[in-house]
Amino acid sequence: MEFLILLLFMHTFSTNAYDNLSEGRSCIQSSTWTCVPSCHLYAANNAVDGDMNTCMRSKPIGSSFPDKTVWWRVDLGDIKSIYSIRIQFRDYGKQYYHRQRGRLGGFSLYISNTTEIQWSNICYRNGPELPPLDFINICTIYGRYVTFYNERNGTTYPTGYETSIVLTELCEVIVTGCHKDGFYGQNCDLTCPLHCQDRRCHITNGTCLGCTAGWIGEFCNKTCNEGWYGDKCSRHCSFNCQRGVCHNVHGECSYGCKPGWKGSNCSQLQCVYT
Ligand SMILES: *[C@@H]1O[C@H](CO)[C@@H](O)[C@H](O)[C@H]1NC(C)=O
Ligand SMILES: *[C@@H]1O[C@H](CO)[C@@H](O)[C@H](O)[C@H]1NC(C)=O
Ligand SMILES: *[C@@H]1O[C@H](CO)[C@@H](O)[C@H](O)[C@H]1NC(C)=O
Ligand SMILES: *[C@@H]1O[C@H](CO)[C@@H](O)[C@H](O)[C@H]1NC(C)=O
Ligand SMILES: *[C@@H]1O[C@H](CO)[C@@H](O)[C@H](O)[C@H]1NC(C)=O
Ligand SMILES: *[C@@H]1O[C@H](CO)[C@@H](O)[C@H](O)[C@H]1NC(C)=O
Repeated sequence: MEFLILLLFMHTFSTNAYDNLSEGRSCIQSSTWTCVPSCHLYAANNAVDGDMNTCMRSKPIGSSFPDKTVWWRVDLGDIKSIYSIRIQFRDYGKQYYHRQRGRLGGFSLYISNTTEIQWSNICYRNGPELPPLDFINICTIYGRYVTFYNERNGTTYPTGYETSIVLTELCEVIVTGCHKDGFYGQNCDLTCPLHCQDRRCHITNGTCLGCTAGWIGEFCNKTCNEGWYGDKCSRHCSFNCQRGVCHNVHGECSYGCKPGWKGSNCSQLQCVYT
């Protein structure tokens, strides 16, 4: 009986589990709480060390401080297929629960492929209602950097937002998704369809993000309609192909050339007249 419960327990935790993409990855943050000589206590990587008791901590932002914006970013090492982002903000218990939510309020999450355009692809923006201190958002997209951002440089904020002393303390940020290229599904064990562009597909249902030349359809498993070939099936087979049909990828005529024409796509005149 106990064994069965254990099995059930293990099953519950082994299914529905995307890979942990952020654990131990390198992180940076806009500022670190004045820390000499104990900077490690507040460093950016405390948010990906698997320990809820250690948290990154920035310098405060808000009306009482020079800094008005704060950010923290993790580098997943390469472009990965992301499923979700979980933020675990410092929870000091019941007494400070609302204050902590008021500090987290209004934050955004961004996903990008380079650090230059880190603010371009927004995955989530909080507000006006205060977020829970343990927050999860689904963001099914490919990307390399995940950036947390918050600011207190506006003049009016929704009820409950802290505005004068806003400390950011991220204890864990867990980005889940699939580590291996070309795989999708909850256990990252299903292969993306063969003709997906760069073998990239949607992490939950396997639809391709784009197709390689000569293929179309959500799963890129249909060849171009007859008479068409190439990238996005947008090129017309040569008019000199027999029956107007050509190879879906390269465009060579499937049944040879119409009389008088030669070459792999029948674009050369054949000199048969004497
Ligand atoms: C992911 O790694 C973090 C440490 O960064 C750990 O706390 C967490 O339990 C892991 N989550 C999953 C889903 O494996
Ligand atoms: C990152 O690059 C991949 C592959 O080119 C692309 O599919 C994805 O949309 C990009 N992600 C962002 C956030 O721009
Ligand atoms: C706060 O400052 C940032 C960075 O300068 C800027 O991008 C953002 O638009 C500002 N927000 C407001 C509400 O002024
Ligand atoms: C797969 O998911 C994407 C994004 O949610 C959606 O646009 C698409 O229609 C889905 N395709 C199938 C076959 O479920
Ligand atoms: C394409 O793949 C999808 C999903 O595997 C399948 O349902 C569909 O029948 C396939 N279509 C063709 C034309 O092979
Ligand atoms: C085939 O036709 C395309 C234009 O449709 C042309 O660009 C290409 O050079 C041709 N290839 C050959 C081998 O003639």
